Amino acid sequence: MEIANICLNTHREMPLLGLGVYKATGENEVEQAICHAVNAGYRLIDTASAYANEDGVGRGIRQCNVPRKDLFVTTKIWNNAQRLGDVEGAFNRSLDRLMTDYVDLYLIHWPVPGCYLQTWKKLEEFYHNGQAKSIGVSNFQIRHLKELESVSDIIPAVNQIEFHPYWYQKELVEYCQSHGIVVQAYAPLARGAYLDDDVICVLATKYCKTPAQIGLRWIVQKGVAVIPKSTQEKRIISNAQLFDFELEPEDMAILDTLNKNYRSASIPEDLRDVSF
Ligand SMILES: NC(=O)c1ccc[n+]([C@@H]2O[C@H](COP(=O)([O-])OP(=O)(O)OC[C@H]3O[C@@H](n4cnc5c(N)ncnc54)[C@H](OP(=O)(O)O)[C@@H]3O)[C@@H](O)[C@H]2O)c1
Repeated sequence: MEIANICLNTHREMPLLGLGVYKATGENEVEQAICHAVNAGYRLIDTASAYANEDGVGRGIRQCNVPRKDLFVTTKIWNNAQRLGDVEGAFNRSLDRLMTDYVDLYLIHWPVPGCYLQTWKKLEEFYHNGQAKSIGVSNFQIRHLKELESVSDIIPAVNQIEFHPYWYQKELVEYCQSHGIVVQAYAPLARGAYLDDDVICVLATKYCKTPAQIGLRWIVQKGVAVIPKSTQEKRIISNAQLFDFELEPEDMAILDTLNKNYRSASIPEDLRDVSF
C-alpha cells in the first residue's frame, strides 16, 4: 500500500507512517520486523539509542533490499549524553551502530532541564554538515519550543509526542502545526489501551476496519505522522492500511471527544521531578 509523505520544514519528505521499534530487542527481532515492514511499504524506522537496538536496526536496513537512500531512519539522543555534554560522541556511536553515515532525522529524546539548548546547538552542526538531514525534538512542550526559538534560527522539523484518541494534545499540536513543526505521534495505539473502546469498535465496524486502523487514521487525518510498533507481520501490514479510507467529519468529531489525557508511556525516572 502506498504510504503518503509529509513535507518537513527542511524541504525533505517524511513518510506519514513508520515502524516504531521500542522493545524490539529479541534475537533477530528488529531485523525481521524491518524486513516485514519494508515489504509492506514502510520506509521509515524510528529507533533511539535508549532502545538498545540500533545495531539490529542497522542490520535490518541492510537486509531489507531497499537502498539506504530510499529509507528514512530516525534516532534520538538520550538524557545522560546530554548531561555529560557528550552529544557528538553519542551521535557518532549511533551512526556506527546503525552502520550509516547519516540519519534522516535526529531528535532530542527529552528536554533535559539545563541541557537541551546546548544539545540543540550541537544538533545544528550535524544538520549543517549533512550528517542529520533534519533535526527535531521529542516530548517538548510549548514552553520548551519557545525557548528553542529564542536561541536558534533553526525550527525543529519534528516534535515527536505521545498522541492518540485517549490523549489529544490539541493545544500543543496546533502550536507545532502553526509554527511549521510536524508532529509525529508515538504510542499511537496507546499501547493497546483504546483498542476495545466501544465507540472506536462501532466505528471500526462502520468502516470495515480494525480499531487500531481507526485510531491511526484519526491521527494521520489531523496531519500528524504515526509510528506504531509491532514485530508481528500481520499487525505490521494491517497498521499500514490507513490510506485507502477517510473518516467522515462527524466521526472525526466523535473521536475528538474521547480524550482522557491518558499517558501510556512513562516519563523516564531521571525526569520524574520535572513537570510535563
Ligand atoms: N519519543 C519518545 O519518548 C517515545 C516514547 C515511546 C515510544 N516511542 C516510539 O514510538 C513507537 C510506538 O510507540 P509504542 O511502541 O510505545 O506503542 P504503540 O505503538 O502504541 O503500541 C505498541 C504495542 O501495541 C501492539 N500492537 C501493535 N499493533 C497492534 C495491533 N494492530 N493490534 C493490537 N496490538 C498491536 C504491539 O505488540 P506487538 O509488537 O506484539 O504487535 C505493542 O505491544 C515506539 O516503538 C518508539 O519507536 C517514542
